[in-house]
Amino acid sequence: MARVFITGSSDGLGLLAAQLLVQQGHSVVLHARNEQRAREAMAAVPGAQKAVIGDLSSIAQTRSVADQVNGLGSFDAVIHNAGVGYRESRRIETDDGLPHVFAVNTLAPYILTALIHKPKRLMYLSSGLHQSGDASLKDLAWRERPWRGQQAYSDTKLHDVLLAFAIARLWPDVFSNALEPGWVPTKMGGAGATDDLQQGYETQAWLAVSEDAGARVTGEYFYHMRPRKPNVAARDQRKQEILLEACEGFSGVKLAHW
Ligand SMILES: NC(=O)c1ccc[n+]([C@@H]2O[C@H](COP(=O)([O-])OP(=O)(O)OC[C@H]3O[C@@H](n4cnc5c(N)ncnc54)[C@H](OP(=O)(O)O)[C@@H]3O)[C@@H](O)[C@H]2O)c1
Repeated sequence: MARVFITGSSDGLGLLAAQLLVQQGHSVVLHARNEQRAREAMAAVPGAQKAVIGDLSSIAQTRSVADQVNGLGSFDAVIHNAGVGYRESRRIETDDGLPHVFAVNTLAPYILTALIHKPKRLMYLSSGLHQSGDASLKDLAWRERPWRGQQAYSDTKLHDVLLAFAIARLWPDVFSNALEPGWVPTKMGGAGATDDLQQGYETQAWLAVSEDAGARVTGEYFYHMRPRKPNVAARDQRKQEILLEACEGFSGVKLAHW
């Protein structure tokens, strides 16, 4: 039995992965943005241990999520699943002065990775759209570029792969991988999405707990339980370091390089 923490497990792929892992007998801690969503998440995943609370668009609340998780002990696996989509039609600025989609999709997984006691496995939810993410890593806060919602989302999903591969390189004792679930019918994906929802959440759960040789790897990118070729920029160590330094600059949180 493994202990697994899943961000954004009040809905969609995170909720479905949590339900599956509990059914398999694992100990699962949920995460939701506020108390009401936490109650709803606990009701939807009977058997979950607890739900920690915090809005991941806020640096302070994200730090609090890490504290709450660490207060529960150590985890075998952490799934960085929470995300917001590509439909933000304007640059929504958070209280920390950052674009909302960057704060939730890029900075929050960075902060949680840096602050949560090191687990044995880390998973980062990316997207096929990461292939068109801006690999220059310039203007991460969208202060100079005219806003383009889909580009902003794609950029963050490239950041998630860069983060996964940076951790795989820096922490050789941890399995750190990224995955794309396909375009699936969740709140984010919408009802018209055409890919296989089940394979989307099964892949997260499999990477988190499976003893299969295929899941016990690091620095890989997955789609439906199989490796898939990621954007080549994600393997660039210099770009990985630029992203880590930028996230440290935005958050004041330092990631241990060991
Ligand atoms: N669906 C797709 O087609 C698709 C395709 C490629 C990649 N992905 C990736 O898969 C992951 C899961 O997406 P999904 O489709 O399951 O989306 P979803 O149904 O919209 O669920 C997203 C989850 O993240 C939570 N969340 C969002 N913003 C948050 C915040 N500021 N603070 C705390 N929690 C927050 C949501 O909470 P609430 O329920 O309270 O909103 C929800 O639990 C995302 O990283 C996404 O980028 C999805």
